[in-house]
Amino acid sequence: MTINAAFIGAGNVARAHLSALRECDAVHACGIFDLDRARAEERAIEFGVPRVYGSWRELLDDPDVDVAGVLLPHDLHRQYTVEALDAGKHVVCEKPMAATLEECDAMLAAAHRTGRRLFPVQNRLYHPAYEKMGELVRQNAIGAVFLAQTNGFEGPRTVSVRPWLGTERRGGGVLMAQAVHPAYALRWLLGDVAQVSCTFGRRKVVEMVAEDTAIVTLAFESGTVAEMTATFGLKYGPFDHAIMLYGAEGYIELRASAGDRTRPQSLRAIAPRLFGDQAVHELELRPVTHPSADFRHMWEDYARAIETGGPAQVADVDGRKAVEIILAAHRSNELGTTMPLPL
Ligand SMILES: NC(=O)c1ccc[n+]([C@@H]2O[C@H](COP(=O)([O-])OP(=O)(O)OC[C@H]3O[C@@H](n4cnc5c(N)ncnc54)[C@H](O)[C@@H]3O)[C@@H](O)[C@H]2O)c1
Repeated sequence: MTINAAFIGAGNVARAHLSALRECDAVHACGIFDLDRARAEERAIEFGVPRVYGSWRELLDDPDVDVAGVLLPHDLHRQYTVEALDAGKHVVCEKPMAATLEECDAMLAAAHRTGRRLFPVQNRLYHPAYEKMGELVRQNAIGAVFLAQTNGFEGPRTVSVRPWLGTERRGGGVLMAQAVHPAYALRWLLGDVAQVSCTFGRRKVVEMVAEDTAIVTLAFESGTVAEMTATFGLKYGPFDHAIMLYGAEGYIELRASAGDRTRPQSLRAIAPRLFGDQAVHELELRPVTHPSADFRHMWEDYARAIETGGPAQVADVDGRKAVEIILAAHRSNELGTTMPLPL
Protein backbone atom coordinates (compact mmCIF):
# COMPACT_ATOMS: atom_id res chain seq x y z
CA MET A 1 0.00 0.00 0.00
CA THR A 2 1.23 3.51 -0.79
CA ILE A 3 0.55 6.36 1.62
CA ASN A 4 -0.16 9.84 0.24
CA ALA A 5 1.68 12.74 1.86
CA ALA A 6 1.00 16.42 1.25
CA PHE A 7 3.31 19.15 2.50
CA ILE A 8 2.88 22.59 3.97
CA GLY A 9 6.12 24.54 3.52
CA ALA A 10 8.10 24.41 0.28
CA GLY A 11 11.36 25.82 1.61
CA ASN A 12 14.84 24.36 2.09
CA VAL A 13 13.92 21.22 3.94
CA ALA A 14 11.06 20.43 1.55
CA ARG A 15 13.72 19.59 -1.02
CA ALA A 16 15.17 16.89 1.25
CA HIS A 17 11.74 15.32 1.88
CA LEU A 18 10.59 15.51 -1.73
CA SER A 19 13.78 14.20 -3.25
CA ALA A 20 13.77 11.32 -0.74
CA LEU A 21 10.16 10.44 -1.58
CA ARG A 22 10.96 10.25 -5.27
CA GLU A 23 12.90 7.10 -4.39
CA CYS A 24 10.39 5.72 -1.90
CA ASP A 25 7.65 3.27 -2.96
CA ALA A 26 5.87 3.39 0.39
CA VAL A 27 5.01 7.11 0.30
CA HIS A 28 3.82 9.27 -2.58
CA ALA A 29 4.17 13.07 -2.38
CA CYS A 30 0.72 13.99 -3.70
CA GLY A 31 0.57 17.73 -3.06
CA ILE A 32 2.16 20.85 -1.63
CA PHE A 33 1.07 24.20 -0.23
CA ASP A 34 3.11 27.30 0.60
CA LEU A 35 2.04 30.88 1.20
CA ASP A 36 4.58 31.62 -1.51
CA ARG A 37 2.73 29.92 -4.36
CA ALA A 38 5.56 30.38 -6.83
CA ARG A 39 7.86 28.50 -4.51
CA ALA A 40 5.38 25.64 -4.14
CA GLU A 41 5.02 25.48 -7.90
CA GLU A 42 8.77 25.45 -8.34
CA ARG A 43 9.12 22.52 -5.94
CA ALA A 44 6.22 20.69 -7.59
CA ILE A 45 7.87 20.92 -10.98
CA GLU A 46 11.29 20.04 -9.61
CA PHE A 47 10.08 16.90 -7.87
CA GLY A 48 7.04 15.90 -9.93
CA VAL A 49 4.46 16.66 -7.23
CA PRO A 50 1.09 16.51 -9.01
CA ARG A 51 -0.90 19.07 -7.03
CA VAL A 52 -0.25 22.59 -5.74
CA TYR A 53 -2.97 23.65 -3.30
CA GLY A 54 -4.35 27.17 -3.26
CA SER A 55 -4.87 27.11 0.51
CA TRP A 56 -4.20 25.07 3.62
CA ARG A 57 -7.94 24.34 3.84
CA GLU A 58 -7.81 22.82 0.38
CA LEU A 59 -5.00 20.50 1.50
CA LEU A 60 -6.93 19.49 4.61
CA ASP A 61 -10.10 18.84 2.60
CA ASP A 62 -8.32 16.61 0.09
CA PRO A 63 -9.57 13.10 0.92
CA ASP A 64 -6.56 11.55 -0.84
CA VAL A 65 -4.13 12.96 1.73
CA ASP A 66 -3.20 10.47 4.47
CA VAL A 67 -0.33 12.40 6.03
CA ALA A 68 0.46 16.11 6.30
CA GLY A 69 4.15 17.01 6.39
CA VAL A 70 4.61 20.21 8.42
CA LEU A 71 7.80 21.90 7.15
CA LEU A 72 7.37 25.38 8.61
CA PRO A 73 9.17 27.82 10.93
CA HIS A 74 9.14 26.59 14.52
CA ASP A 75 6.46 28.92 15.88
CA LEU A 76 3.91 27.46 13.42
CA HIS A 77 4.37 23.74 14.15
CA ARG A 78 1.69 23.53 16.83
CA GLN A 79 -1.08 25.29 14.94
CA TYR A 80 -0.69 23.40 11.66
CA THR A 81 -0.08 20.04 13.31
CA VAL A 82 -3.20 20.31 15.47
CA GLU A 83 -5.33 21.45 12.54
CA ALA A 84 -4.11 18.56 10.39
CA LEU A 85 -4.76 16.01 13.13
CA ASP A 86 -8.24 17.47 13.67
CA ALA A 87 -8.87 17.10 9.95
CA GLY A 88 -8.12 13.37 10.28
CA LYS A 89 -4.60 13.42 8.81
CA HIS A 90 -1.54 11.80 10.32
CA VAL A 91 1.33 14.29 10.74
CA VAL A 92 5.07 14.23 10.22
CA CYS A 93 6.35 17.45 11.81
CA GLU A 94 9.82 18.89 11.34
CA LYS A 95 12.18 19.44 14.26
CA PRO A 96 12.01 20.93 16.79
CA MET A 97 8.58 19.50 17.52
CA ALA A 98 7.50 22.94 18.78
CA ALA A 99 8.90 25.99 20.51
CA THR A 100 7.54 25.26 24.01
CA LEU A 101 6.47 22.25 26.08
CA GLU A 102 2.90 23.60 26.21
CA GLU A 103 2.81 23.53 22.42
CA CYS A 104 4.24 19.99 22.34
CA ASP A 105 1.57 18.91 24.84
CA ALA A 106 -1.21 20.41 22.70
CA MET A 107 0.10 18.44 19.72
CA LEU A 108 0.35 15.19 21.69
CA ALA A 109 -3.16 15.74 23.08
CA ALA A 110 -4.53 16.31 19.57
CA ALA A 111 -2.96 13.05 18.35
CA HIS A 112 -4.47 11.23 21.31
CA ARG A 113 -7.89 12.85 20.83
CA THR A 114 -8.09 12.13 17.11
CA GLY A 115 -6.44 8.71 17.10
CA ARG A 116 -4.10 9.90 14.33
CA ARG A 117 -0.34 9.41 14.43
CA LEU A 118 2.16 12.20 15.08
CA PHE A 119 5.79 11.65 14.09
CA PRO A 120 8.50 14.19 14.87
CA VAL A 121 11.22 14.34 12.23
CA GLN A 122 14.33 12.71 13.72
CA ASN A 123 15.93 11.99 10.40
CA ARG A 124 19.49 11.54 11.60
CA LEU A 125 18.59 8.32 13.41
CA TYR A 126 17.97 6.83 9.98
CA HIS A 127 21.47 7.56 8.63
CA PRO A 128 23.33 4.29 8.11
CA ALA A 129 26.12 5.59 10.38
CA TYR A 130 23.67 6.31 13.22
CA GLU A 131 21.98 2.95 12.72
CA LYS A 132 25.34 1.19 13.00
CA MET A 133 26.36 3.28 16.00
CA GLY A 134 23.11 2.33 17.76
CA GLU A 135 23.66 -1.31 16.94
CA LEU A 136 27.21 -1.24 18.38
CA VAL A 137 26.01 0.43 21.60
CA ARG A 138 23.16 -2.08 22.01
CA GLN A 139 25.52 -5.02 21.52
CA ASN A 140 27.84 -3.49 24.13
CA ALA A 141 30.75 -3.38 21.67
CA ILE A 142 32.58 -0.64 23.62
CA GLY A 143 31.29 -1.55 27.09
CA ALA A 144 29.35 0.93 29.21
CA VAL A 145 29.47 4.40 27.65
CA PHE A 146 30.56 6.85 30.36
CA LEU A 147 31.27 9.95 28.22
CA ALA A 148 29.92 11.43 24.98
CA GLN A 149 30.66 14.53 22.94
CA THR A 150 28.91 16.07 19.95
CA ASN A 151 29.91 18.84 17.56
CA GLY A 152 27.54 20.82 15.37
CA PHE A 153 29.74 23.13 13.34
CA GLU A 154 27.83 25.19 10.78
CA GLY A 155 28.23 28.62 9.19
CA PRO A 156 26.07 31.77 9.19
CA ARG A 157 24.50 30.62 5.90
CA THR A 158 22.20 28.29 7.82
CA VAL A 159 20.55 31.42 9.21
CA SER A 160 20.86 33.68 6.16
CA VAL A 161 18.92 31.27 3.90
CA ARG A 162 16.02 31.19 6.39
CA PRO A 163 15.95 34.73 7.88
CA TRP A 164 13.07 33.88 10.28
CA LEU A 165 15.59 31.84 12.25
CA GLY A 166 17.36 34.98 13.31
CA THR A 167 14.27 36.81 14.52
CA GLU A 168 12.90 37.08 18.02
CA ARG A 169 9.47 35.56 17.36
CA ARG A 170 10.45 32.58 15.33
CA GLY A 171 14.06 31.87 16.22
CA GLY A 172 15.18 29.72 19.07
CA GLY A 173 18.88 29.88 18.37
CA VAL A 174 21.43 27.27 17.44
CA LEU A 175 20.26 24.93 20.17
CA MET A 176 16.62 24.70 19.02
CA ALA A 177 17.51 24.70 15.34
CA GLN A 178 20.56 22.46 15.35
CA ALA A 179 21.52 20.92 18.72
CA VAL A 180 18.07 19.38 18.94
CA HIS A 181 19.49 16.76 16.51
CA PRO A 182 22.31 15.56 18.81
CA ALA A 183 19.93 15.92 21.77
CA TYR A 184 17.51 13.35 20.34
CA ALA A 185 20.38 11.21 19.05
CA LEU A 186 22.11 11.06 22.45
CA ARG A 187 18.82 10.24 24.16
CA TRP A 188 18.26 7.45 21.63
CA LEU A 189 21.77 6.10 22.30
CA LEU A 190 22.11 6.69 26.04
CA GLY A 191 18.62 6.97 27.55
CA ASP A 192 16.90 9.74 29.46
CA VAL A 193 18.64 12.88 30.67
CA ALA A 194 18.55 13.79 34.37
CA GLN A 195 20.28 17.22 34.39
CA VAL A 196 21.21 19.93 31.91
CA SER A 197 23.57 22.87 32.15
CA CYS A 198 24.52 25.34 29.47
CA THR A 199 26.51 28.43 28.61
CA PHE A 200 25.86 30.57 25.55
CA GLY A 201 28.75 32.20 23.72
CA ARG A 202 28.50 35.97 24.26
CA ARG A 203 30.78 36.94 21.40
CA LYS A 204 28.14 36.89 18.64
CA VAL A 205 29.27 36.24 15.08
CA VAL A 206 25.86 35.74 13.42
CA GLU A 207 23.12 38.33 13.17
CA MET A 208 20.40 36.60 15.13
CA VAL A 209 18.51 37.47 18.28
CA ALA A 210 19.03 34.15 20.04
CA GLU A 211 22.31 32.34 20.70
CA ASP A 212 24.56 31.44 17.76
CA THR A 213 27.01 29.40 19.85
CA ALA A 214 26.50 27.31 22.97
CA ILE A 215 27.94 24.48 25.01
CA VAL A 216 25.58 22.15 26.84
CA THR A 217 26.40 19.46 29.36
CA LEU A 218 24.02 16.58 29.93
CA ALA A 219 24.00 14.17 32.86
CA PHE A 220 22.08 11.02 31.96
CA GLU A 221 20.05 8.93 34.38
CA SER A 222 22.56 6.12 33.76
CA GLY A 223 25.39 8.31 35.10
CA THR A 224 26.89 8.98 31.64
CA VAL A 225 27.94 12.57 31.07
CA ALA A 226 27.89 14.30 27.68
CA GLU A 227 28.84 17.62 26.15
CA MET A 228 27.22 19.17 23.06
CA THR A 229 28.97 22.05 21.26
CA ALA A 230 26.87 23.90 18.70
CA THR A 231 27.54 26.92 16.51
CA PHE A 232 26.35 28.74 13.41
CA GLY A 233 29.47 30.90 13.54
CA LEU A 234 31.91 28.93 11.41
CA LYS A 235 32.21 30.99 8.26
CA TYR A 236 35.09 28.79 7.12
CA GLY A 237 35.26 25.03 7.91
CA PRO A 238 35.57 22.52 9.39
CA PHE A 239 31.84 21.98 8.89
CA ASP A 240 31.00 18.91 10.83
CA HIS A 241 28.35 17.04 12.75
CA ALA A 242 30.05 14.51 14.96
CA ILE A 243 29.27 12.21 17.85
CA MET A 244 32.00 10.57 19.93
CA LEU A 245 31.16 7.86 22.45
CA TYR A 246 33.71 6.71 25.01
CA GLY A 247 33.10 3.35 26.64
CA ALA A 248 34.89 1.27 29.25
CA GLU A 249 35.99 -1.05 26.42
CA GLY A 250 36.46 1.25 23.45
CA TYR A 251 35.52 4.27 21.41
CA ILE A 252 33.17 5.10 18.50
CA GLU A 253 33.35 8.24 16.37
CA LEU A 254 30.67 9.28 13.87
CA ARG A 255 31.34 12.13 11.48
CA ALA A 256 29.01 13.68 8.94
CA SER A 257 30.98 16.34 7.12
CA ALA A 258 29.25 18.74 4.79
CA GLY A 259 30.70 18.94 1.31
CA ASP A 260 31.87 15.39 0.78
CA ARG A 261 28.91 13.93 -1.09
CA THR A 262 30.70 10.71 -1.91
CA ARG A 263 31.29 9.93 1.72
CA PRO A 264 28.82 11.97 3.76
CA GLN A 265 29.25 9.91 6.89
CA SER A 266 31.93 7.82 8.46
CA LEU A 267 32.10 5.63 11.52
CA ARG A 268 35.31 4.57 13.20
CA ALA A 269 35.82 2.53 16.32
CA ILE A 270 38.36 1.09 18.66
CA ALA A 271 36.62 -2.00 19.99
CA PRO A 272 38.84 -4.92 21.08
CA ARG A 273 35.71 -6.94 21.91
CA LEU A 274 34.65 -6.67 18.28
CA PHE A 275 37.94 -6.69 16.39
CA GLY A 276 40.31 -8.51 18.74
CA ASP A 277 42.85 -5.65 18.62
CA GLN A 278 43.26 -2.03 19.74
CA ALA A 279 43.51 -0.44 16.29
CA VAL A 280 41.13 2.13 14.85
CA HIS A 281 38.74 0.38 12.44
CA GLU A 282 36.59 2.00 9.75
CA LEU A 283 33.15 0.38 9.88
CA GLU A 284 31.23 -0.83 6.85
CA LEU A 285 27.97 1.07 6.45
CA ARG A 286 24.82 0.37 4.50
CA PRO A 287 25.56 2.13 1.20
CA VAL A 288 24.05 5.60 0.80
CA THR A 289 22.47 5.83 -2.63
CA HIS A 290 20.99 9.28 -2.21
CA PRO A 291 21.93 12.44 -0.24
CA SER A 292 18.55 12.35 1.56
CA ALA A 293 18.57 8.60 2.21
CA ASP A 294 17.93 9.21 5.91
CA PHE A 295 14.67 11.02 5.09
CA ARG A 296 13.62 8.15 2.85
CA HIS A 297 14.30 5.51 5.52
CA MET A 298 12.47 7.66 8.07
CA TRP A 299 9.37 7.97 5.86
CA GLU A 300 9.44 4.21 5.21
CA ASP A 301 9.47 3.55 8.95
CA TYR A 302 6.67 6.03 9.65
CA ALA A 303 4.57 4.66 6.75
CA ARG A 304 5.00 1.12 8.10
CA ALA A 305 3.89 2.28 11.55
CA ILE A 306 0.80 3.96 10.08
CA GLU A 307 -0.11 0.89 8.06
CA THR A 308 0.38 -1.65 10.84
CA GLY A 309 -0.67 0.57 13.75
CA GLY A 310 2.59 -0.53 15.42
CA PRO A 311 5.41 1.61 16.80
CA ALA A 312 8.00 3.42 14.69
CA GLN A 313 11.58 3.80 15.84
CA VAL A 314 10.63 7.34 16.92
CA ALA A 315 7.57 7.99 19.10
CA ASP A 316 5.64 11.26 19.37
CA VAL A 317 6.92 11.89 22.92
CA ASP A 318 10.51 11.65 21.71
CA GLY A 319 9.97 15.00 19.97
CA ARG A 320 8.84 16.58 23.24
CA LYS A 321 11.77 15.10 25.20
CA ALA A 322 14.27 16.62 22.76
CA VAL A 323 12.61 20.03 23.05
CA GLU A 324 12.66 19.71 26.85
CA ILE A 325 16.45 19.19 26.81
CA ILE A 326 16.90 22.36 24.74
CA LEU A 327 14.53 24.43 26.89
CA ALA A 328 16.40 23.25 30.00
CA ALA A 329 19.64 24.42 28.38
CA HIS A 330 18.12 27.86 27.70
CA ARG A 331 16.92 28.12 31.28
CA SER A 332 20.26 26.95 32.67
CA ASN A 333 22.10 29.65 30.75
CA GLU A 334 19.60 32.27 31.89
CA LEU A 335 19.66 31.30 35.57
CA GLY A 336 23.30 30.24 35.76
CA THR A 337 22.35 26.95 37.33
CA THR A 338 21.96 23.26 36.50
CA MET A 339 18.41 22.27 35.56
CA PRO A 340 17.02 18.91 36.68
CA LEU A 341 14.60 17.15 34.30
CA PRO A 342 11.67 16.89 33.92
CA LEU A 343 11.25 20.66 33.79
N1 LIG B 1 15.55 17.74 9.59
C1 LIG B 1 16.48 18.54 9.10
O1 LIG B 1 17.63 18.13 8.88
C2 LIG B 1 16.15 19.98 8.82
C3 LIG B 1 16.96 20.78 8.01
C4 LIG B 1 16.56 22.11 7.78
C5 LIG B 1 15.40 22.62 8.34
N2 LIG B 1 14.64 21.82 9.16
C6 LIG B 1 13.40 22.31 9.78
O2 LIG B 1 12.39 22.42 8.78
C7 LIG B 1 11.50 23.47 9.10
C8 LIG B 1 11.46 24.43 7.92
O3 LIG B 1 12.74 24.91 7.66
P1 LIG B 1 13.23 25.36 6.21
O4 LIG B 1 14.70 25.37 6.26
O5 LIG B 1 12.56 24.58 5.15
O6 LIG B 1 12.67 26.87 6.20
P2 LIG B 1 12.42 27.79 4.93
O7 LIG B 1 12.37 29.18 5.43
O8 LIG B 1 13.39 27.44 3.86
O9 LIG B 1 10.96 27.34 4.42
C9 LIG B 1 9.79 27.60 5.16
C10 LIG B 1 8.65 27.74 4.15
O10 LIG B 1 7.43 27.88 4.88
C11 LIG B 1 6.61 28.80 4.18
N3 LIG B 1 5.62 29.33 5.11
C12 LIG B 1 5.84 30.13 6.18
N4 LIG B 1 4.68 30.36 6.83
C13 LIG B 1 3.72 29.66 6.16
C14 LIG B 1 2.33 29.48 6.37
N5 LIG B 1 1.69 30.05 7.38
N6 LIG B 1 1.66 28.71 5.49
C15 LIG B 1 2.30 28.12 4.44
N7 LIG B 1 3.61 28.26 4.20
C16 LIG B 1 4.31 29.03 5.06
C17 LIG B 1 7.58 29.85 3.66
O11 LIG B 1 7.02 30.58 2.58
C18 LIG B 1 8.78 28.97 3.25
O12 LIG B 1 8.69 28.56 1.90
C19 LIG B 1 12.02 24.07 10.40
O13 LIG B 1 11.36 23.45 11.46
C20 LIG B 1 13.49 23.68 10.40
O14 LIG B 1 14.08 23.63 11.69
C21 LIG B 1 14.99 20.53 9.37
